[in-house]
Amino acid sequence: MERTVVAVHAAGGPEVLTFTREPVPPPGRGEVQVRHTAIGLNFIDVYQRSGLYPTALPFTPGQESVGVVTAVGEGVSGLVVGARVASAGVLGAYASARVLPADRVVVVPDAIDDVTAAAMMLKGMTAEYLVRRCHRVEAGQVVVVHAAAGGVGQLLCQWARHLGATVIGAVGSRGKVQVAAASGAHHVVVVPEQHLVDEVKRLTGARGADVVYDSVGADTVRASLDCLRPRGLLVSFGQSSGLPAPIALSALGGARSLYVTRPSLHAYVHTRAELEESSAALFDVVTGGVVKVRAPMTFPLSAVADAHRALEARKTTGSVVLIPD
Ligand SMILES: NC(=O)c1ccc[n+]([C@@H]2O[C@H](COP(=O)([O-])OP(=O)(O)OC[C@H]3O[C@@H](n4cnc5c(N)ncnc54)[C@H](OP(=O)(O)O)[C@@H]3O)[C@@H](O)[C@H]2O)c1
Repeated sequence: MERTVVAVHAAGGPEVLTFTREPVPPPGRGEVQVRHTAIGLNFIDVYQRSGLYPTALPFTPGQESVGVVTAVGEGVSGLVVGARVASAGVLGAYASARVLPADRVVVVPDAIDDVTAAAMMLKGMTAEYLVRRCHRVEAGQVVVVHAAAGGVGQLLCQWARHLGATVIGAVGSRGKVQVAAASGAHHVVVVPEQHLVDEVKRLTGARGADVVYDSVGADTVRASLDCLRPRGLLVSFGQSSGLPAPIALSALGGARSLYVTRPSLHAYVHTRAELEESSAALFDVVTGGVVKVRAPMTFPLSAVADAHRALEARKTTGSVVLIPD
């Protein structure tokens, strides 16, 4: 079987995403060969392509794919040819087919179609660990979510609301207010048109938020800390606007006594058991209708550079999915 595969030979703009055709290798021991039907686009793909996250060259970007098992390597149990599987967190997804470690894929429930699965696996497992394990969101808490209309943001808002929190979403433009509200944000703040800290203080009667989920980084980290109540938690889990500046420990102390964490999905689905638990919890909330995955924006894989441009220019809402063509 031949495949189309995207390669990056030098870090840079979207134009460094190039295409080649090559045979798909057979699966080795403990591996499966998968023909992709849908590929999730994630902001980490931009960091790796641009060089913000240095990645050994050349490499094939992409961390999230869904498809059909076409061959099973020795020593693999529980997966058969024809199984519909998803993977999140294994580099090399921008291809029409690839070989994956069998212990890093999960079977997709029948009720979830391929494009929806590609829109939700990495972002949804991120939402899962952020609201259930990194911090345990509970009824009555106030949660601030940056980029609330984005891919992770929409899932995070819905899940936090389901757990009983009051959700304050921040978005970068008025056009995204409705999207964030439809995704469960009780209040939506347009930044920088509105002052986030003032709005959070106003909405909480000067108390502040219990937790701020900040995926924007450089532009927001200071305000995020100032939104917190005493002993509140900043979860700095992304840098769509650039890496956040270092925070002096002394800035956390005194009457505020704040907490900060900088989590990564890899650390929360590191073991097979964690991956199974996280994906099962995600499948439950999605198939149960608690968290709705909006139809993503789709691009053919051949237009992956345009997809990157749209994501970087803040022109997307929800998830973006690439379809092999
Ligand atoms: N640590 C983890 O485990 C983990 C896992 C998955 C994702 N993430 C992080 O979560 C974030 C969201 O990922 P995603 O794939 O779902 O993307 P996304 O949120 O759909 O897109 C990024 C959004 O960030 C906002 N943004 C603010 N300043 C920006 C800037 N200067 N340039 C571009 N965007 C800017 C934009 O929303 P507005 O226009 O509304 O401001 C934009 O739509 C990323 O930072 C990603 O790295 C972290």
